[in-house]
Formats: sequence, structure tokens, C-alpha cells
Amino acid sequence: MIYRPALSYNDVLLVPKYSDIVSRKEVSIRSDLDQWRSLDLPIISSPMDTVTESSMANAMAKAGGLGIVHRYNSIEMQVQKIYEVKDADRKAAAIGITGDYLERAQALYDVGVRILCLDVAHGHHILMKKAIQSLRALYPDAHIMAGNVATKLGFEDLANWGADSIRCNIGGGSICSTRVQTGHGVPGLQTIFDCFSANVARDVKIIADGGIRNSGDVVKALAAGADFVMVGSLLAGTIESPGEVIYSSDGSSRKIYRGMASKEAQHNWRGKHSSNEGISTTVPAKGPVRNVLEDLENGIRSGLSYSGARTITELQVNAEFIVQTASGQTESGTHILDRR
Ligand code: XMP
Repeated sequence: MIYRPALSYNDVLLVPKYSDIVSRKEVSIRSDLDQWRSLDLPIISSPMDTVTESSMANAMAKAGGLGIVHRYNSIEMQVQKIYEVKDADRKAAAIGITGDYLERAQALYDVGVRILCLDVAHGHHILMKKAIQSLRALYPDAHIMAGNVATKLGFEDLANWGADSIRCNIGGGSICSTRVQTGHGVPGLQTIFDCFSANVARDVKIIADGGIRNSGDVVKALAAGADFVMVGSLLAGTIESPGEVIYSSDGSSRKIYRGMASKEAQHNWRGKHSSNEGISTTVPAKGPVRNVLEDLENGIRSGLSYSGARTITELQVNAEFIVQTASGQTESGTHILDRR
């Protein structure tokens, strides 16, 4: 048996550093996905059926990020969504690693997808090895994003099997119940520290996936070694997220946001459920995703300048993390409402 402590986003802060950055415009938050593709905004929208179809993918691309079109429908329907994604180099789609995944991959490749996301809950798995190796051989020019993993060894294996980028974090998302149901997982920030320490070439990219609640968490993830963050709940409820607005009797308007391993998502997709490792809920309707992304971008740029960093790489070099106590955590959030 092995025991070790592990940190999550709330446990730490970044120590402010001397800065000679006069304007946030001097800061670049551009990040390379691979040698051919870069994102001006290091944010990727999650391949979930209440987060990313064509409207979200187009809006993400317009803002400089990327949207991965989800796979929870027929091949024909997913292909149709990809047709509707405008930017040729931003056609990105999720597939599984069993069943018809090779047929799905071919259909997506045929309509221009060059970023394939092998989207499974426990990616450190022999079936993932076979899937990455098959797809790598079939599509040498495609970017292969794979995951999810929670450990250094998982990251190293997926990298060695041929993944170009790896989604890191298991069970840390806002709608996840994997840790509750199975007792497994690693706190999200610790996962990034561990994966960053992997013994693989640094051109395999780290995607901090799940549990990101604000721009401060994005900055912490990037400082810990992530190249990108993947988000679901931050974008759920926007106009571009799939699903109808639900109007409540109290005048509020909301949209559904659900985990892909929730009973509700599985029933909607294939009429039955085989696991119960996510929840379904509603979130407030939020207006255009552009506003959410602008707020995040401003916060990330400001975060880099607090560390005296003009680029994400400089942030990673300059970053000094401190672990905060429970009173530090209280002090770090807005807390005037606690004073009664
Ligand atoms: P956030 O915190 O951004 O997390 O809402 C989104 C990420 O959560 C993962 N995901 C799940 N994990 N059960 C899980 O344990 C699920 O049903 C589920 N659905 C999504 C996924 O990595 C996503 O990007």
C-alpha cells in the first residue's frame, strides 16, 4: 500500500513576483497544440453533449480556443455537426476506443477532422493502447488527443503509445461522481504536477481537464505545467451550449449540464445505463460564451503579470506555489458576507 498527500486548486496560491509588465497586452497566452497548430487562448471546450456541438466549436475557434464536438450520437449526426464547424484547422471531434470507433474516425477524417480526441473515463488501459496505435498508423497527420489519466505513469504510457496531447484528471470535474462511486482519483492540481514530471518529450501536451472554476484555477493549472485547460461547467448554460433554455416559475432561466457517465446522459444516448459516475443538473443561462471567454482571458493575462511572466513558459519557470491553511483558504475567497 502506498500513501502520499496530494494537492488541489484550493490548497495553493501563487506567490506574486516582481513584474515589469506595463500592460496585459504584453502578455501572450498562446500555446502550441503540436508543431502545426497553436491556440491563442489555451482553453478547450469539453466533448460533452451539453457543452460542445458546432455553435460552441465555432465560438471557441473565434475566441482563439478549441471545441471538441462530442460523440454521443450517431456517426451521421456527428459528421453533420462537423460540417457546420467553419474553421478548417479547428475541426476537432471525440471518438471512443471500442465498437464502431474506427468507422467513426474514418467518417470524421473524411470531412476534415484532423484533431481526434479518444475520449474515455479511464484512459490508462490496454484498449487505449490499441486505439492510439491503430489511429496513429491510419492518420499520421492527425493530432491525437487521449485520456483521461491521473498519474505520471499513465501520462508516460499514453505519450509512448503515440498521443500528441493528454487529458489529465480523473473524477475532478464539477459533475463527476467517479471518486464517490469508485474511491479512485487524484486531486486535479496534483495530477498536473505529476504529469509535468513525466519522463517524456515536452512536445506531448498536458490538458488540465475538469474542476476548473475560474481564471485563477486556469493560471494555477498552467503554472503547474498544463499547456491547456479543458472546461465544461464554465461554458455550460451559454447560448452556444446545446440544449433548450428551461424557464422556471420564479423567472429564472436555466440549461441542463450533465456528466457523460450520468444515468440521464446514458439513457439519452443509448436508452440504458451501465454506470452512474456523473450527475445531471441545471445551471443558470449565461448569454453568449464570448463574454465568459473574455473574462477568463483577462483573468489569465492578469495572472501571468502577477508572476512577472510574458508567456506560459515563463509562468512555469517563475511559479512559486505555497500551500495555504484552512484560514488562508477562507481569506482567499471574497468573505465580507461571512461577517455577521
Ligand atoms: P468541469 O469541472 O469543467 O469538468 O465541469 C468537465 C470534465 O468532467 C469530466 N466528465 C466526467 N467525469 N463523470 C466523471 O467522472 C462524468 O459523468 C463526466 N462527464 C464529464 C470530463 O473530463 C470533462 O471534460
